[in-house]
Amino acid sequence: MIPREPSDNSLAFLREGYTFVSSRCDRLGTDLFETRIMMTPVVCMRGAGAAEVFYGGDRFTRTGALPKSVLHLLQDEGSVQALDGTAHHHRKRLFLDLLTPDAIGRMVLIFGQLWQEALPRWQARRRIVLHEELLPLLTRTAAIWAGAPLNDHELALRSRELGAMVEHAGSLGPRNWWARMLRNRCERWAQDAIGRMRTDGIRPDVPAAQALAAHTESDGQPLPLSLAAIERLNLLRPIVAIGRFIVFAALALYRYPHWRAALAFGDGDLEPFVQEVRRTSPFFPVVGGRTREAFEWQGEQFAESRWVLLDLYGTNHDARHWHEPAAFRPERFRDWPGDPYTFVPQGGGPYETGHRCPGERTTIEIVKEAVRRLVRTMTYRVPAQDLTVSLSRMPTLPRSGFVMTDIRPS
Ligand code: HEM
Repeated sequence: MIPREPSDNSLAFLREGYTFVSSRCDRLGTDLFETRIMMTPVVCMRGAGAAEVFYGGDRFTRTGALPKSVLHLLQDEGSVQALDGTAHHHRKRLFLDLLTPDAIGRMVLIFGQLWQEALPRWQARRRIVLHEELLPLLTRTAAIWAGAPLNDHELALRSRELGAMVEHAGSLGPRNWWARMLRNRCERWAQDAIGRMRTDGIRPDVPAAQALAAHTESDGQPLPLSLAAIERLNLLRPIVAIGRFIVFAALALYRYPHWRAALAFGDGDLEPFVQEVRRTSPFFPVVGGRTREAFEWQGEQFAESRWVLLDLYGTNHDARHWHEPAAFRPERFRDWPGDPYTFVPQGGGPYETGHRCPGERTTIEIVKEAVRRLVRTMTYRVPAQDLTVSLSRMPTLPRSGFVMTDIRPS
């Protein structure tokens, strides 16, 4: 019998946030326990073994596994994440085929160029809040890359909408409703754009736009416009969300200046640095699934349709795999052989057949480019500000959004 906390823990989850699952696992001396969230029984689990059970087979569906408040702002109904089996593999291919090394390279170039163009504007201002600047910068990057260039007015609308979808995914009530309203507007824009592309002819020079507009389901039917729009947002929104990791990377450069010095002259430790930023930064606290069929793990019978939350943050901070997990040590990734279950900031397991994030390499490369820019192309000051990172806010950020002053190109 796994430990059970019979009372409803919804409020505790919202209050404790990222540490909710792991603090209970530590206290109960277990990797899984059952409780209730939103009055519904749920098994919470953490660690590499749990991640392997969650991602290793085809045991879990995402259908019915996320509250509507989260689902409608992030992946949405009918999206790749909501699919299972063959339909999922077919739709997932679309994302994997779009995010090739060449395509990622193109995105990094666009991003680097837009950052370079932003520098004189940042220099002219007394101070900038990095997170606020990254929203339009990454929105424009994503739009150009995906073949949907935006004028300044559209850019302001889209970056606000895409930013709000992530910012308010974890909130309830008016903020969440407001973000959903913005999302509806963004979906209408995406539908119009894809509809126009389908009638005016596909642009062969823009692979992402072309692939999305021309994509057919596994039965050969064109992807309905509403779903094509949802998937378009599933490309654009997470690219904009990479800004959050960039803010944490800037915070790490500030807190550990020896890493700034080490990264100034070469790319040798750049990837380990970015991986450690992804391991230590709180982003998605947990991911939810429902069992597709009954199975047994650690003596516990998982009946069909049982709700499970896998603790991503806790798994990335599991002391059994990460020595002194709270310490920021990029060195641990220098000779890291790679492991799909101990390091799961963007999910785990195989990319093709499971629900692991297809944008993981894109994320790493964009954050690497941002670190290059922060370290090698500009100087700036980090004035006194509130850099606390609240672990009960999901998703979280340094409270100030990371203020920078006296920016100069170097
Ligand atoms: C900002 C950094 C990112 C984070 C923290 C993140 C996180 C995640 C996580 C945790 C999942 C797994 C969900 C699950 O197991 O059900 C996921 C799936 C997904 N991500 Fe990301 N992601 C990021 C960036 C990206 C990027 C850049 C893209 C595309 C350009 C992307 C597209 C997707 C898609 C389409 C899925 C659904 C995959 C499926 O269900 O098979 N993500 N992401």
